[in-house]
Amino acid sequence: MVQINLPENSQVKKGKYFKDKTGSLNLRKVNVYRWDPSTGENPRIDTYEVDMDNCPSKILDILNKIKNEIDPTIAYRRSCAHGVCGSCAMNMGGKNGLACTKPHAEIDGDIDIYPLPHLKVKKDLIGDLDGLYKQYESIEPWLKSNSESVTQEIIQSKEDRAKLDGAYECIMCACCSTSCPSYWWNSDKYLGPAVLLQAYRWIVDSRDEERQARLKKVADELKLYRCHTILNCTSACPKGLNPAKAIAEIKKMLATANI
Ligand code: SF4
Ligand code: SF4
Ligand code: FES
Repeated sequence: MVQINLPENSQVKKGKYFKDKTGSLNLRKVNVYRWDPSTGENPRIDTYEVDMDNCPSKILDILNKIKNEIDPTIAYRRSCAHGVCGSCAMNMGGKNGLACTKPHAEIDGDIDIYPLPHLKVKKDLIGDLDGLYKQYESIEPWLKSNSESVTQEIIQSKEDRAKLDGAYECIMCACCSTSCPSYWWNSDKYLGPAVLLQAYRWIVDSRDEERQARLKKVADELKLYRCHTILNCTSACPKGLNPAKAIAEIKKMLATANI
């Protein structure tokens, strides 16, 4: 029988309310998704009143302030705090991005913070990226050279090096893949924009000797052609990259390659 309601334990409940204790007149309400699988309880939204007079400018600063001063139980990933490692990717004010580079001033009203969409959640704001990293591994993201005689640096022309621009900067934060409707529904088969951009990065690397094999590997109805050029991925990328274009380039190469 078709189930038309969400299962009881998937419903997000209203959570705890943490009232300001500083007496600040400059407060913002921050609503944070909370879920701890070990409790067996439903996910909930906790609300924190945060003193903005003593808070630096980014969403990550708010989370750090909550963790350090209000509620140490909150879980999220972060490392570099400079938009380099990709670990703090989450959904803020309805948009995917990096908490360490997203200014809270860009969000009007209450600030809603959720994990990246359509991922299983490990805890609170930590999405489960195991599947995405398995897919990343599947495209073998390392230089492949069959020449046993290579003992020194492989020289690239400036033109060949320039082909990597727009691809090498990807930090695998997954903001693009988790904003892609095709990936939401088919993430077990479709590689998604983050992994396909990485595949492209190795396909166009002039030093790599497995170009044909790499192309053949992604030439698949489900792995590649589930991209319907919706472009959510490109608008979600916090590094200003264009994974949709890279996917289109792979499709173009396949159309002309003899594979
Ligand atoms: S362009 Fe392709 S990869 Fe990007 S959001 Fe659309 S379907 Fe997904
Ligand atoms: S393309 Fe952009 S959004 Fe996607 S994983 Fe790379 S850096 Fe993140
Ligand atoms: S903490 Fe490294 S990108 Fe945000």
